[in-house]
Amino acid sequence: MTITVFGLGFVGLTTSLGFAEYGHTVYGIEMNPERLSTIQRGQLPFLEPGLDEALNRHLGKRFHPIGIDSSNSQQSFADIIRQSDCIYYCVGTPYGTDGQADLSHLFGAIDQTLAAHRSTLTSHFSLLTYQVLVVKSTIPPSTTSQKIIPYLQAKGINVGKDLGVANNPEFLREGHCWDDFIHADRIVLGVSDQHSADILRKLYSTASAPIHCVSLNTGEFIKYLSNTLLATLISYSNEMSLVADTIGGIDVATAFRILHEDKRWGGATMSSYVYPGCGYGGYCLPKDTNALYAVANSAGFDAQILKNVIKTNDDMPAHIAQKVARAVGADKQRVIGILGLSFKPGSDDVRDTPAAKIVSHLRMLGYTHIIAYDPVANEEFKRYYGSLAIDYVDSYATIITQADVFVITTAWPQFADIRQLTEKPVVDCRYMLTAPPEGEE
Ligand SMILES: NC(=O)c1ccc[n+]([C@@H]2O[C@H](COP(=O)([O-])OP(=O)(O)OC[C@H]3O[C@@H](n4cnc5c(N)ncnc54)[C@H](O)[C@@H]3O)[C@@H](O)[C@H]2O)c1
Repeated sequence: MTITVFGLGFVGLTTSLGFAEYGHTVYGIEMNPERLSTIQRGQLPFLEPGLDEALNRHLGKRFHPIGIDSSNSQQSFADIIRQSDCIYYCVGTPYGTDGQADLSHLFGAIDQTLAAHRSTLTSHFSLLTYQVLVVKSTIPPSTTSQKIIPYLQAKGINVGKDLGVANNPEFLREGHCWDDFIHADRIVLGVSDQHSADILRKLYSTASAPIHCVSLNTGEFIKYLSNTLLATLISYSNEMSLVADTIGGIDVATAFRILHEDKRWGGATMSSYVYPGCGYGGYCLPKDTNALYAVANSAGFDAQILKNVIKTNDDMPAHIAQKVARAVGADKQRVIGILGLSFKPGSDDVRDTPAAKIVSHLRMLGYTHIIAYDPVANEEFKRYYGSLAIDYVDSYATIITQADVFVITTAWPQFADIRQLTEKPVVDCRYMLTAPPEGEE
C-alpha cells in the first residue's frame, strides 16, 4: 500500500518507518525545513533508540521524506497525495486557549491534502480509489465526528463515499518509540464505515497486536482514558508524598516500593507511574489532561478528579522549590545544581519539563546562582527556556564540584551514586536514591 504521513515528529517518523517496515511505501511530509533536511540526511532530529537503524534501513527505499509542495525526482506532491491509500496526520495538537487542544496544524494539513486533490480534479471531488484520511494525532473525543467530518462536508465532500475518515490513536512512549510501535500491545481504529475499516486492517495485516475497530468517538476517548489515568496516578502519588512529608517520619520511597510489591500489580511497569516525583511533564500528559477536562467542561460537565489532578500537578514545582529552599537555607549566594532537564530519563524532550518550572520558582524565591547539567538535554533546554538565564555545565563531575546543593529533577541512572561523590545536601525529587525507579513518566 502507499501511505502519506503529515508531520515527522516522534509519532510521524515512527509511524512512517513502522509502515515501511511492514512493507508499505511511505511518503513523509514535514514542513520544518531543518527537521526535514536532518531526516533526509539519514539522521534523527531527536534522541530515540532504534529509530536511527530503521531510518537507515528504509530511507530512499520504502520511506521518502519530502517538504510541502516539493516533489521527489519522479512525482509531484499532488501525485503523491492522490495515489495514497491512506493519508496519516501526525502533526502536533498542542495547548490551545483555555486548555483546549489546538487543532490548527491538523486542519492545515487537511487543507494541504484537499488542495493537492483539487489541483488534479476537474469537476466533482471524485478520487480514483477510496482513500482514508486517518488522524493519529491525539484529538479530544468527538473531534472527528463533530469537527473534521462537517469541515469536509462543508467543502462538498461526501464522507463515506468520496473518501473515508478515521482515527488511529498512538500509544508509544518517547524513548521507546520504535519498540512500542513495532510491538504494540493494541491497535485502535476509530472508524465510521466498513470500507475504511477494511483498508486500515489491511494496512496493519502484518502487525501482531489485536486490532480493535470502534466508533470514532470511542477511538479518540481510549487515548485520553490512558493518558488521564497515568496523570491521575502520578498526581495521586505526588499528593501522597506531600501528605507523608507533612505528617513527618515517613520514608516515602520505601513506602511506595513496598506498595509495588502488592501482587495485584502483576509485576507490570504501571507501578512506575505510582511513584512520586516532580509532577508529570513532557508533551502528552499535561496537554491531554487539560484538553479532556476542557472538552468535558464545554459539554457541560465539570470533571472534579481531572480538575484536581491538574491542580496537584501545577502545584508541584512550587512545593519542590520550597523543599529546595529549606535545604539551601537563607544564603542566596549558594549555588544550586539542577541534575536533569529532560522530562524523563532516556529522552532529550524538554517540553513541559518540571525542571523549567522548578527553576522558575527558585528564581522567584530569589535564588540566582543556578547551574544545570543533563546528559543529553542541555542544548534543547537552553533553546526552549533561554529566558531562565541559568548556567549549564557539560559534565556530572563539574556540577558536583561547582554546586553547593543538588536537586535531582530527572531520574537519570547515573545520578544514583551522588551520595558517594559528595556530602553536600541533595534534594532527591525523584526518590531515586533509596529506591531505584523504573523511570517512566
Ligand atoms: N510524543 C509522544 O510521546 C506522543 C505519543 C502518542 C501520541 N502523541 C500525539 O501525536 C501527535 C504528534 O506528536 P509528536 O510528539 O510527534 O509532535 P512533534 O511536535 O514532535 O511533531 C509534529 C511535526 O509535525 C510537523 N507539522 C505540523 N504541521 C504540518 C503540516 N501541515 N505538514 C507537515 N508537517 C507538519 C511539525 O513541524 C513537527 O515536526 C500529537 O497529537 C501528540 O499528542 C504523541
